[in-house]
Amino acid sequence: MTNKNTADADASPLNIVTKLIESRRSIKPVDFSDHRVEDALVWQMLRNANWAPTHGMTEPWRFFVFTGSERSTLGKLLAEIYHQITPPESFKPAKAAKLVSNAERSSHLIVIAMKRQVSEKIPEVEEIEAVACAVQNLHLTATAMGVAGYWSSGKAICSDQLRKHLGLSTYDRILGLFYLGYLSSDWPIGTRSPVEEKVVWSSDA
Ligand SMILES: Cc1cc2nc3c(=O)[nH]c(=O)nc-3n(C[C@H](O)[C@H](O)[C@H](O)COP(=O)(O)O)c2cc1C
Repeated sequence: MTNKNTADADASPLNIVTKLIESRRSIKPVDFSDHRVEDALVWQMLRNANWAPTHGMTEPWRFFVFTGSERSTLGKLLAEIYHQITPPESFKPAKAAKLVSNAERSSHLIVIAMKRQVSEKIPEVEEIEAVACAVQNLHLTATAMGVAGYWSSGKAICSDQLRKHLGLSTYDRILGLFYLGYLSSDWPIGTRSPVEEKVVWSSDA
């Protein structure tokens, strides 16, 4: 028989949100299965992302979703950009190949961008912070659905070349690429050093 108090405590909003936050993990495409995430689930992630806080209600997050054969097209474009922006002596063919395979192994790819407010009244850093909050909403929603993902921010991804390709202006910024897919193995466990090491608490009590 279930102890009602324990069951209630386990299912409390606080416990649910704490467990969800703790279990969110960055999981790379190499660990994805070939099972496709339903588009409806991705839309729910995007709707939840859209509820991020936003100074001045600028809602600066923009998402460019690639799925189906568009994944491979994006992966190849990223490999090409990497080639263009890398000096020949530092170019690594394996890195270019990984940009393609990571894209092809994912169910959906989401380019994360910040659309700059025309008046530039809100500081740029606050607009970037708002987009980061939106990505956290998206990632937590994916976690709640058992969908794996990770935020990647390589040079090719955050390049002017990709920004222009997506029709974004010089004032806008690409902040990364979010890879989504189902995990093919066990959900990994994360680690953090204690929060007490990062807090200065002042009080007269
Ligand atoms: C803005 C941002 C950019 C990131 N870019 C990369 C990246 O380019 N490559 C990578 O391996 N991980 C990247 N990560 C994910 C971190 O590696 C990951 O959050 C960290 O290892 C902690 O793991 P966890 O998210 O599972 O707790 C990024 C995270 C953030 C917030």
